[in-house]
Amino acid sequence: MSVSQPFSLAVLISGNGSNLQAIIDAIQNKKLDASIKLVISNRADAKGLKRAEAAGIPTLLIEHTQYSSREEFDQAMLDALKACRPDLVVLAGFMRILSAQFVSALSGKLINIHPSLLPRYKGTQTHKRALEAHDSVHGCSIHYVTEELDGGPVVAQSEVPIYPNDTEQLLAARVQKEEHQLYPFCIGLIAQTKLELIDGAPVLNKQLLTSGGIKFRQSNYDRYYLE
Ligand code: GAR
Repeated sequence: MSVSQPFSLAVLISGNGSNLQAIIDAIQNKKLDASIKLVISNRADAKGLKRAEAAGIPTLLIEHTQYSSREEFDQAMLDALKACRPDLVVLAGFMRILSAQFVSALSGKLINIHPSLLPRYKGTQTHKRALEAHDSVHGCSIHYVTEELDGGPVVAQSEVPIYPNDTEQLLAARVQKEEHQLYPFCIGLIAQTKLELIDGAPVLNKQLLTSGGIKFRQSNYDRYYLE
């Protein structure tokens, strides 16, 4: 009797790994039907490595500082990923820019979470920039990864309010709470083949997703809307 394998993930991290933890928890709580085959970190001190070990997930440390070029570092990660053949590679706070060779080898199978409502605030310090711009809303985005930094097709976003006396820390915590729901949710849609990238465009239930993809408002995951 053959038993079908669950949808498999490899997760790339650089730090705390709270998004990795949210994915682990969603799998353990049976909210996400998937398995994590491998966690790769480019930093030895990443707390996410401990989280993976505690969950019994194989880990690999591939330190970028040990490689003389971005391409060689990326090739080492590609070799490790090829060996475990995940269905999807999940960037979860992985803070290295990826080479064109890495992105094209994983085209359509590589997703990222970014702490802003893309296309606003690509890059770093997104919460600070949203506060300085006196925005009234902020949030997080999930997108397929292309060669353009934080520029690939967005599949989902969750929006949070910005309050008058907000600090960067308060806002970051509010956004992270959303991230921890949004990422497992989107991975689940991809695992169920409800969400896919077809000819470079994100498609949900056979419908082309435009303008930022699936939209959520703070912590209401029973309802989403499309614009
Ligand atoms: C997350 O907020 C994620 O959106 C951000 O790093 C944090 C990692 O947190 N990613 C980026 O800024 C990528 N451009 P975590 O390690 O606790 O999951």
